[in-house]
This record gives sequence, structure tokens and C-alpha cells, in this order.
Amino acid sequence: MSSLSLSHRRHEFPRDTLPQTPKARKQWEWTRPVQYLLKEQRLLFVFVGMAFASALFFLQQPQHRFGSTVVDTSKHRAAALSERRDINYYKDAASSELFGNSLGVYDSSELFGKQQHMGIISTAGAKVPLGLKRTALRVVVTGGAGFVGSHLVDKLIARGDSVIVVDNFFTGRKENVMHHFGNPRFELIRHDVVEPLLLEVDQIYHLACPASPVHYKFNPVKTIKTNVVGTLNMLGLAKRVGARFLLTSTSEVYGDPLQHPQKEEYWGNVNPIGVRSCYDEGKRTAETLAMDYHRGDSVNVRIARIFNTYGPRMCIDDGRVVSNFVAQALRKEPLTVYGDGKQTRSFQYVADLVDGLMRLMEGEHVGPFNLGNPGEFTMLELAEVVKEVIDPAAKIEFHENTADDPHKRKPDITKAKDLLGWEPKVSLREGLPHMVSDFRNRIFGDQKEESSPLE
Ligand SMILES: NC(=O)c1ccc[n+]([C@@H]2O[C@H](COP(=O)([O-])OP(=O)(O)OC[C@H]3O[C@@H](n4cnc5c(N)ncnc54)[C@H](O)[C@@H]3O)[C@@H](O)[C@H]2O)c1
Repeated sequence: MSSLSLSHRRHEFPRDTLPQTPKARKQWEWTRPVQYLLKEQRLLFVFVGMAFASALFFLQQPQHRFGSTVVDTSKHRAAALSERRDINYYKDAASSELFGNSLGVYDSSELFGKQQHMGIISTAGAKVPLGLKRTALRVVVTGGAGFVGSHLVDKLIARGDSVIVVDNFFTGRKENVMHHFGNPRFELIRHDVVEPLLLEVDQIYHLACPASPVHYKFNPVKTIKTNVVGTLNMLGLAKRVGARFLLTSTSEVYGDPLQHPQKEEYWGNVNPIGVRSCYDEGKRTAETLAMDYHRGDSVNVRIARIFNTYGPRMCIDDGRVVSNFVAQALRKEPLTVYGDGKQTRSFQYVADLVDGLMRLMEGEHVGPFNLGNPGEFTMLELAEVVKEVIDPAAKIEFHENTADDPHKRKPDITKAKDLLGWEPKVSLREGLPHMVSDFRNRIFGDQKEESSPLE
């Protein structure tokens, strides 16, 4: 039919207008098939073009999906298959490991709009190289106006995430987070975690709980309520919105340990009816709740057992040994040592802890993990370091020991080293001067507050 129509068309040309020279005829023969395709078969041409473009698109897809090839996603997918977790698992994988959401699975970050930023992002043992985009997360930090929480918030904001701090300001201070006021990625909610709360988020760092004996013994019933009802509420929220949940538990779950150093497998030696039980047993129950939500409801949980931590923004006069010694030395008061001063503790700088918490949250292991500095000091040795840094002439005063004070406390961090690739980097002599300068500013109020210097 086409040859007919062509010959017909040729006949439409007046004979004397057709090209006569051999060169002109050759040119006409060259362009003829193209003209034929473009004019007569243009529909077919368009279809072939579309098919070609689709083929190209599908060939390029895997590259987009798993473009961050340095991140070993196969492990997570294999784990997902073997664990037969529900959609939450995939969502977590999508939001924290697969930076980009073209996977075709549910990614709740879509609910909140995506904010992306560039840079090196550390995940559990993997780094996303410069130039690759990471989907920013929406993160809740309960207790985020407190000592550890506020440093964590700084790091999450710096990473490009949106952070909601939930705090009742029992021991937390607005001053700890007010440098983020005005940042559209930061929100602060005055709320008690004992009451339920609904927020659409990807991750929940649950820190809300007074941490020092002075504060948790102040209202023991409130302390245990915070640990039990507060943790239940936050786990319920995690389940409802499919968020990953991290609990900050404590080395106190080991009580007065009969094993030294303490491994995660050790079940502890805790007095269930003592004055510290509201905290110790409260945290043990919180761990139980986290594991039950994990096993029973497939909530993706992480458990950190934190050992003594120090640094800028600790509460002054909170009764914890480092803050006590530093405040006393600065005020030219004698350093109070309880008992014979031979009980040991390990002291971790807050930046190291925050690094460990974030690795744990981003990683694939539930825990529990000990996060602490294995360097062990007696109280008397600590007093000597404080004297050395602040006032070599400071005096030491001995007082009667408090009830249920553990004799030894030192973390075994092999598990965190092996599975999270984490270990503390800041020594006591390096970290202490930063805390001292922050305390000096707050006690004497004459200088700018120090933020997180060693981060
Ligand atoms: N700092 C340490 O050495 C250490 C050691 C072991 C465990 N931890 C754990 O780490 C977490 C943070 O400790 P921290 O040292 O930053 O203590 P912190 O007292 O400075 O911070 C706790 C924060 O939680 C808030 N909070 C308390 N009860 C609340 C409630 N019911 N609702 C809402 N907010 C509430 C406080 O106002 C405060 O901002 C705690 O869960 C603590 O048990 C800390």
C-alpha cells in the first residue's frame, strides 16, 4: 500500500521538477527511508522510541535503588526474609539504610516530606560517601533537654534530621537546647511521658528519666512510673507509627555485681526493695517491656546499658560523683568521698556515648549493649584527677557510704566493639577540662556556655 501511495505521490510531481542529475537522485534515495519513517510510520516510530526509553529506565532502576552500594543492604534484606518481620522492618531498612525511597516499599519519611542533605553519614559500620543523598529522618528524643539528650539532639540536628524533644523539665533545662530555637527542624514539647502522646516519627530515642540518685530518689513512685508507664507509652507510639525505638537503660541493672567486668549476659544482683529499686528495677522492667514489644509486636527496638557518663551540661549538685567533685573543687570546698573511696567506677565522656547510641540505633542489632568506658578508677583516684585539673590544694573528706552503693562497676564492651564497631575515644584527662570549663561558666556565670567540644 505504501509503495502504491509513494508511486502515486511521485506522479503528483510535475515531471520537469523531479531531480534529473545522478547526484540529486542519490540524495533523494538517502533521505527517502527517513522521510518514510517520520511521515508515514511516525506512530510506529513513536512506539519504538517509547519502548527504548522504558528499557533504559528499567535498566537504570537498580542503580538508583541501591545506589549507595557501600551500604550492605543484602544483609538487611536477608535478615528481613529470615526473621519474617512485618512491614516495619522494611520501613526501617528503607528509612535508615537505603537512602532514597525508590524501593517500592513503605517509607514513612514520605509522610513528612523529605529533607535531604549531603555529607558523610555514618551508619552501623558503613559510611555513605559524599555526594550521595540521605533521606532525613524525623526523630523524637524524650528527655532531650537533659544532659545526654541535649548532646544527642545536637548531633541529630547536625546530621540533618528533624528533632522533636519531649521533656517535662524535671531535671532538664531549656538552656541545654535553646541554641536550636528558631531552627525549623527543631521542636520542643513540654510533656510528661507518663501521659500518652501521638507523633508521626521514624525513630524514638527514649531517655526521659532522672538519672542521678538525688533526683530519682526524690519521688521514687514517679521514677518507677516514668520507667514503666512512660516506656509503655513510648513503645506503644513506636508500634503505632512503625518507628524504631531505643531505650537508654543503665549499668544499674547489674545492681551490686558479682561478676567483674560486667558482660551483657550477666543478669545482675539487684535489691528489689531498696531505695534505688525505683530506678534499677524500673529500668529492668523497661528492658523487659522493650523485649516483649519486640518479640510480640515486632517493634524494632534497641537497648543501651549506659555506664557513668560525664561532660558539659550535667546537672550541678546532682550527687553524681564527677559533678560533685568538680563543683566542690571549683567552690573551694572539700571533695566528699563516700565509704573508703576504694569502690570503682568507669567514666565515659558524653560525646563517646552519643556516638554509641547513634550507631546502635542505625545498626541491625537489638542489644542490650554496654556503652561505657572500661578505664576503671577508684573514687580516690578520681578525686586526685579532679584536684590535678582544678585545684591541687583541694582537701578530701570521708563520709558514710549510701545504701546499695555498688562496689565495682566496669563494662565489658566486647559486644559493642564487635557488632557496632564502637569504643570510647576520650580519656578522663581529656574530657574533664571541658566539663570543668562548663561548670565554671555556670557556677560563676561570667562566660559563654560551652557546647560539645570534643564531638
Ligand atoms: N548520665 C549517666 O551517667 C547515665 C547512666 C546510665 C543511664 N543513663 C540514662 O540516660 C538517660 C539520660 O540521662 P541524663 O544523664 O541525661 O539525665 P538527665 O536527668 O540530665 O536527663 C533526663 C531528662 O529526662 C527528663 N524527664 C524526666 N522524667 C520525665 C518524664 N516523666 N517525662 C518527660 N521527661 C522527663 C528530665 O527533665 C531530663 O531532661 C536516662 O534515661 C538515664 O537513666 C544515664
